[in-house]
Amino acid sequence: MPAHEYNALDPLDPLDPLRNFVAAFSRLLERRPHETTLLEEGAGLLARLVARDDWLPDAFAAPHPDHYQQFLLHCDSAQRFSIVSFVWGPGQRTPIHDHTVWGLIGMLRGAENSQPYVLDANGIPVVAGEPVRLSPGDVEVLSPRLGDIHRVSNAYDDRVSVSIHVYGANIGVVHRSVFTETGERKGFVSGYANAQLPNPWRKAAPPDGKP
Ligand SMILES: [Fe+2]
Repeated sequence: MPAHEYNALDPLDPLDPLRNFVAAFSRLLERRPHETTLLEEGAGLLARLVARDDWLPDAFAAPHPDHYQQFLLHCDSAQRFSIVSFVWGPGQRTPIHDHTVWGLIGMLRGAENSQPYVLDANGIPVVAGEPVRLSPGDVEVLSPRLGDIHRVSNAYDDRVSVSIHVYGANIGVVHRSVFTETGERKGFVSGYANAQLPNPWRKAAPPDGKP
């Protein structure tokens, strides 16, 4: 059954993996872990979510012909974290940009290349090491502590790629920066492509001990 078709008689909801991820990530944050632990354990949870590609509804995996786009899948009520699907049309790529908060990137479908940069003394972005190629199931970790600037591109010129990102804020409203090759820095707020969220709560069991 395609992920977007819902049958009330089915014991499982296609979005169960997303709901389980939200619950597990919330439990992880409730422990108030150090960022190192958070990113390590969070990467493990995200790896499990992107280990299968049968749950993301088509509406949240739709490419735009002119530019990449990101769809909000879930935002924590305290905006401690958000989950987005990032959809690349063939050959699309981002400008060089930062995030200002920690991030986890899990590859769901296709592949992407992430080229890290650092700013030199004049604010000009300089390539920092080899690009990271993500294939389905892979997870990349980002943090202002570890290095927060990169440029990401669809590894394919002839097909769509999709990754699932988790950020340490409501990323669509965070004030961030893009950088030109010549060191010009411009502020941006990414927003989201969607006005409606997926609903993974239709088959949720009540929390333990509650009626
Ligand atoms: Fe990024």
